[in-house]
Amino acid sequence: MDIEKQFEAAFSRITLENGQPLVSVEPEIVHGCVVNNDFAKITLILAEDSPLRGSLPAKIEAEIKQIEQIERVAIEVLATPPKENSSTQPATSQNTPQQPQRTAYLQNYEAVIAVASGKGGVGKSTVSLNLALALSKKGYKVSLFDADIYGPSVPIMTGRRGEKPSVASNRLIPLESFGIQTLSIGNLIDENDAVIWRGPMVHQAVEQLLRDTNWPGGDFMLIDMPPGTGDTQLSISQLCELTGAVIVSTPQDVALIDAIKAAQMFTKVEIDVLGIVENMSFFACPKCGEETPIFSQHGAKEACTKIQAPFLGAIPIELQVRKGGDEGKPIMATNKVSSATESFNNIASNLINILEEG
Ligand SMILES: Nc1ncnc2c1ncn2[C@@H]1O[C@H](COP(=O)(O)OP(=O)(O)OP(=O)(O)O)[C@@H](O)[C@H]1O
Ligand SMILES: [Mg+2]
Repeated sequence: MDIEKQFEAAFSRITLENGQPLVSVEPEIVHGCVVNNDFAKITLILAEDSPLRGSLPAKIEAEIKQIEQIERVAIEVLATPPKENSSTQPATSQNTPQQPQRTAYLQNYEAVIAVASGKGGVGKSTVSLNLALALSKKGYKVSLFDADIYGPSVPIMTGRRGEKPSVASNRLIPLESFGIQTLSIGNLIDENDAVIWRGPMVHQAVEQLLRDTNWPGGDFMLIDMPPGTGDTQLSISQLCELTGAVIVSTPQDVALIDAIKAAQMFTKVEIDVLGIVENMSFFACPKCGEETPIFSQHGAKEACTKIQAPFLGAIPIELQVRKGGDEGKPIMATNKVSSATESFNNIASNLINILEEG
């Protein structure tokens, strides 16, 4: 039986206290149901004073969990139906800003975190991947989505350049690398094709990679973002409910100004900034150990004070970090112990603490 039929059957089995079938109640109580892999989100419309608010959600949850594919159920109870989402409606002249469209993409993850920066080349992809691996080493189930449609780096950094994902039941299966699940537009199209894409195509590509991929779910989904505050940032903030954003910056003033801008953009769309990572903090001479602050120093800490975001940690410049990225063997996937690997582990721990406190 297909999944829609299974849901129909499950809903038709539910009755109210007085024996009336749920599906026969007017106006309809079940307003929406979104399914993503093993996760279902159900929206109910019940008046503030409805006695059904007490017992019905648990009853529905129990029934829906009987469906074999469904492991987790979230029930949202609203007093009135939500306004239709803005993307399918013409813009209105109302003064209040329209709420972004919220769908259930990636809701089978405990935490969905965008790794972003204002400026390009500061190390977002390097940090996303090595942080994902640090979290995975701590025993968490981690996925990494490369949302950099214009300049995907994850295929190279994981050594999966040119590899195409397999497809099952019309859905893409992410590639497994070093214990984490990854997928990138770079695994689907020719490397040079994406650069000419315009905004709507980028949105479509991002949505497709979210909708048509069998993301397995788990503890963490990290999203490697392109630089800046453009189309992809908007798409991601509309298409998934982000737990928050991690901002990567170098200690330079120019990078920090852009990092603050990126942080402010997330705050504007009501996404928490979980913290700032200072990358390429210093270079430690492999011979004498002397530390040289190539891109200046401590700037990220000051930026954190300015925007009241936690400081997640500093990563030094290390040859093995760069080489690992280029050669598809990220440093955190090797047994190397260095100042950078220690930093990635500390940043992972700090992030976990922040989420637990959160
Ligand atoms: N801590 C580090 N030590 C040494 N090299 C690093 C470090 N961090 C990043 N790099 C190198 O710097 C370059 C840029 O890093 P990366 O691609 O991760 O940046 P990015 O912010 O994702 O760039 P883009 O904005 O193009 O997506 C890469 O060659 C990477 O290997
Ligand atoms: Mg990148």
